Order: sequence, then structure tokens, then C-alpha cells
Amino acid sequence: MNSLKPIFDEKKPRVYIETYGCQMNVNDSEVILSVLQENGYSLTEDMNKADVILCNTCSIRDNAEQRIWGRIEQFRLQKRRNPAVVIGIVGCMAERLKDKLLEKVDLVAGPDSYRSIARMVADVRPDSPQINVLLSRDETYSDISPVRLDKNGVSAYISIMRGCNNACSYCVVPYTRGAERSRDPHSIVREAEELFGNGYKEVNLLGQNVDSYLWKSAEENVNFAKLLEMVSAVSPELRVRFSTSHPKDISDEVLLTMAAHENICRHIHLPVQSGSSTMLEKMRRKYDREWYLERVAKIREIMPDCGLSTDVIAGFSGETEQDHQDTLSLFREVCFDSAFMFQYSERPGTLASKKYPDDVPPQVKTARLNEIIELQTRMSLESNRRDLGKRFIVLVEGASKRNGEDLCGRAGNNKMCVFPAAEAERKALGLQPLQAGDYVTVEVKDCTSATLLCTQVL
Ligand code: 5AD
Ligand code: SF4
Repeated sequence: MNSLKPIFDEKKPRVYIETYGCQMNVNDSEVILSVLQENGYSLTEDMNKADVILCNTCSIRDNAEQRIWGRIEQFRLQKRRNPAVVIGIVGCMAERLKDKLLEKVDLVAGPDSYRSIARMVADVRPDSPQINVLLSRDETYSDISPVRLDKNGVSAYISIMRGCNNACSYCVVPYTRGAERSRDPHSIVREAEELFGNGYKEVNLLGQNVDSYLWKSAEENVNFAKLLEMVSAVSPELRVRFSTSHPKDISDEVLLTMAAHENICRHIHLPVQSGSSTMLEKMRRKYDREWYLERVAKIREIMPDCGLSTDVIAGFSGETEQDHQDTLSLFREVCFDSAFMFQYSERPGTLASKKYPDDVPPQVKTARLNEIIELQTRMSLESNRRDLGKRFIVLVEGASKRNGEDLCGRAGNNKMCVFPAAEAERKALGLQPLQAGDYVTVEVKDCTSATLLCTQVL
């Protein structure tokens, strides 16, 4: 296994990496750095000191890509100052935009090519850029221990699968990341054990659709529920989270497994995308509004205290005012704790781009999105108010961002809790000051729409 920690060593060639997009991309950057460190590179957080500048990209919406094109121009300015610098674009934009990218940078590497990234960097010459955008059927990087880039040393990502076999009509991911493949469960458990041994207290199991995780070998079949059980057995002190769940696939078995293990956090990220069955059909989500609501009811029946968050898209092709109202009414009915909310952005190559015109005017998309955001902010506040007076066990992450004297951490339901460090009170009771990685019981005294304001229960 490789070293888990980033190496900062000025005597070695230095890599600077910027990451855009989802948690899976963050974890991919950790894999890339692991491969590079194994090959003698070190890390820098200062682009001006880098020998290699990498940008791990996201294609999910047009504005993500536009931002990255802007950054590429800045990297090129740096290369003008220091022509020896290698600029590489990796990740989801690589395959889609390879020709345009090769005009601007030295290296283009897709999500399944990271094992060869060190060789590619070394092979770059002024007149020979390097490219590998082949997608694989079986690459899961299962034997590579990612270099941990998180700052707190408490919570880490573990990729349990790669790619996606769903064919949501709006989504570019199956084209950028290829077909779905699951990783050997024993390598996942080993990685969780290694993290726990290094002081981590929480792992977040990542996949585009974790419910379809399936490992088949001669000896065993392991589905997602079984995998959850295996990882939760690493230690009762290690919290297990996961994302993303798919409403068509989330099974009662998974819900019952969550309910049966206290260290599996009671939080489900369950993207709905729309509250209108017409839109869901056109999006090829393979469920309808009623199915989604039934799954939510089941989650709450099995785990009444389970946190629930979602993703939603406003203004998909052909979306009528009634469809939009259906989304709003679903949001009211479910009362999500939080949501990621987006305007539809047509992506080249997707089924929707070929079959369904992007016909909701931009100002209508924006107005609908704003309406959803406004409603969700109220619902988040309502959800947080329902927690007033409740007690939660929080995993301390460190100082609160807003007020450095307070501490922060998440409750099992994924809500952010902020509370005074109360060092004097702790000392009076003979307790050590709290540190990142400690568990503490808090009581909710007040809230905003984003945070629970708590006190420690001593
Ligand atoms: N336009 C807008 N939002 C999108 N998402 C995926 N594809 C698109 C698109 N073309 C959103 C979905 C998904 C989240 C990661 O990004 O809500 O769940
Ligand atoms: Fe992640 Fe999707 Fe963006 Fe790729 S396109 S980085 S999979 S969000």
C-alpha cells in the first residue's frame, strides 16, 4: 500500500492539482496524487511553484466547463512564465473535448487512465502532447491507496464503484466515465481499516448509483447491503456514510441494514430530479412520482429519524408550469433537509440533446429554480426547527468556519451542528478539550436554515 499522506518536498518535482465537480472527482485526484507520489513527485498548494499543473474537470453542466476553460487560460499564462511546466487536463472533460484541449495543454487523461499518469507526464515534449482517454470495463483502482487531501483527518472518501449504467437522458456521466463496475469488497474493507488505523472516524462510500453495487466472484456475491454491513463491522467507532442512492434501486434490505447498525449514518441522498411523472419518464429515471414518495415513506417508516436530501433540475425539455408545480408540491410533501438545485443544461451527446429540444426559455428556468430554492430554504428551516431540543451525537470536525471559537461537526442525519468548545466547563468536570475526531453529545438550542446551533451535553 502507498503512503496516505501528501508529501510536500521541494527537492522533488511538484504537482499542483485543482479539482472540480463531485466527491468522486475529489477521490480521483487523491488516486492521481498517489500514483504520482509513488513515482517521485511531491505536492504543492502554490501553482507558481509547480512543475506539473493538473486540473481535474467536470462536464455535468455547461457553466462547470466554462469555468474550467477560464482556468486553463490562467495555467497557460503560468506556462508562458515558466515554459518547463506541464499542464494536464484530467477527468470528465477529457474524452468529450480532447481535440480542443490538446490545442491548449500538454496532457489529456480520462478517468480510467490514471495508472499511467506519471509516465504520460514524463513523456510530454514540446511537440508531443500526451493523451489517453480510453474508458475501461474493469478499472477500479482497487489496489491504490489514495493520498488523503482532506484537511481534518477525520472523514475520508472511498470509491466503491466507477462509471454508470443508467441512461438518464440529460446526463453526460455515462459518456465521460463509462460503464458501471464494482470494486472488490475486501479491498474496500481494507481501505476502511487502514483509514481507521490512521485516526479517521468516518468513511463515505461513493458511487454514481451505490444501490446497484454488486461484486460477483466464484466464492461470493456481495450487494450494497452486504457491503455496508462489512464496512460497518470495521469498528463501532467508524461512521459509515454513502452516496448516491437511486430511487429506482434503493432496497428495503439496504434500509434494514442501516437501521440495524448504529454506525451507519441515518442519511440518504436520494436525487428526485423532478416531481412530475411526465418529466421523470422523459428523463428516463425509471420511476414516477408515486414510486419516489413510496420510497420516502418506507425510509421514514424504517428510520423515522433519517435525514433526506435530494437533487433537482428546473426547466428540463418541455417542462410546463404544471410540471414545475408538481416539483414544488413534492418538495412540500417530502420536506427534504437539504437539496442541490440546478437549471437544466443541455449536454452534447446525451439522448436529450438528440431527441428533446432545450425549449424552456432561460429566464423561465431561472425563475423556476429561484422558486424551488426559496421553498427549500423555508423547508430546511422547518426541518431544523423540528430538531430543537433534540440530542445528537456529533463527530467533531474542527473549528467552526464562521466563529473560530466554536466547534462544528455533523450529526448522523448529516446536519451541520455548531457549538461552543466549552473548555472551562469541560476542565471543571475533568474532561479534556475536544479535538477533531472526538464524538460528543449536543443539544439543539437554535437553528438557521443551514445549521443547528447547539450546546454540549456534559
Ligand atoms: N443539467 C442540469 N443538472 C444536471 N445534473 C445532471 N445532469 C444535468 C444537466 N444536464 C444534476 C442532477 C444530478 C446532479 C449531480 O447534477 O441533479 O443528480
Ligand atoms: Fe462528477 Fe459528473 Fe462532474 Fe464527472 S461530470 S466530475 S462524474 S459531477
